[in-house]
Amino acid sequence: MTKPLWIIHATQLATLANDKKGPRIKDAMSDLGLIEDGSLWIEDGVIKAVGKTSELEKQYADRQHEAEVVDAKGHLVTPGLVDPHTHVAYGGSREREFEMRLEGATYMDIMNAGGGIHATTRMTREATEEQLIEQTTKRLDLFLEHGVTTVEGKSGYGMNLETELKQLRVMRKLQETHAIDIVPTFMGAHAVPSEYKGREDEYVDLLIDEMLPVIANEKLAVFNDVFCEKGVFTPEQSERVLEAGKRHGLIPKIHADEIESYGGAELAAKVGAISAEHLLKASDEGIQAMAKAGTIACLLPATALYLREEAAAGRKMIDEGVAVAISTDCNPGSSPTTSMTLVMNLACISMRLTPAEALTAATYNAACAIKSEDKVGSLEVGKQADIVLWNAKNYQEIQYFFGINHVKSVWKKGKKVVG
Ligand code: NIG
Ligand code: FE
Repeated sequence: MTKPLWIIHATQLATLANDKKGPRIKDAMSDLGLIEDGSLWIEDGVIKAVGKTSELEKQYADRQHEAEVVDAKGHLVTPGLVDPHTHVAYGGSREREFEMRLEGATYMDIMNAGGGIHATTRMTREATEEQLIEQTTKRLDLFLEHGVTTVEGKSGYGMNLETELKQLRVMRKLQETHAIDIVPTFMGAHAVPSEYKGREDEYVDLLIDEMLPVIANEKLAVFNDVFCEKGVFTPEQSERVLEAGKRHGLIPKIHADEIESYGGAELAAKVGAISAEHLLKASDEGIQAMAKAGTIACLLPATALYLREEAAAGRKMIDEGVAVAISTDCNPGSSPTTSMTLVMNLACISMRLTPAEALTAATYNAACAIKSEDKVGSLEVGKQADIVLWNAKNYQEIQYFFGINHVKSVWKKGKKVVG
């Protein structure tokens, strides 16, 4: 049996605890459940008690000598960050495209010329499972160093059954061997593969008739995502893919209104998607529909910055009652980063979230966006002991100093993995 872990005297413990279930909206996004001089008692990877240090000292008076004690005086302690939208399991990299975009090419120009998602698809098809595991492991290690203890991971760089399965199996293996939790999403509808150019509907049929049943049968994914965008999948095609996924028990997610306003937010509400992603160009009607349907907006301000686009209307979405989560969108084209701290910084700077809202969006609401809020996203009794101790004394500080990794130590299921 491992020793209990006892964190004491945290100058600020942001528990994110709240009695209400489900994603937080409006003012509830600012309620961080703060405790001054806070303490956590952890056993077997699970949080057993949360409160003031003086309270836990009494509660565990007889057992203090058993514990490994961490003195967090001077530090902020938060839940492990949750990244609810990544494309982390891919082959190769695309640094030349970065230069091309700076020289004037657009993201869609590059993709339509066979680069972009197609380039990564070629590299992912060519990579062996071992090579993919090796490359993805490095990215997951970086996530941990940035305080991220749970990620969602999408397939979508296969776009044929063999390689989609390879990506999803790689994520399943890493889920067993790597400290990070990976929640898998099938995204065969990431683009229309080059060999189906001009036969888009046939590819949609292939997704529905041949890929989805196998993926669902092997229980390789929880969610089903589609890139609903002009020149990729129409709202009608996207709806077909998402409805088919639902029949197999996969929960819909949508890459929506990223490059152009295309009815993606409206579609997310209509199909009952758990979240809609990007939303840079979401319409007012779409935002209202999402608020009404309870669809979480998963906003990706690092992607907007990297594509030199104006970020999504995060402030407006929160004011209109949409629950907002944020994510790196870690991928080799539009957002090669694993820094959720940078994403929190940008959520404040480019979307005008407050520092408190940004932290909720990167923890509890992010967990809701991947249906994992019963286990992660807040520090509450019975939840996984996924914890970050920061080189900062309060939550404002981690958003105020920007472009800095303030993570000092990270515990995953009670085990120290960083610091
Ligand atoms: O979420 N927009 C579509 N998919 C990814 C980018 C993938 C890529 O460029 O490789 C995104 O930004
Ligand atoms: Fe994405």
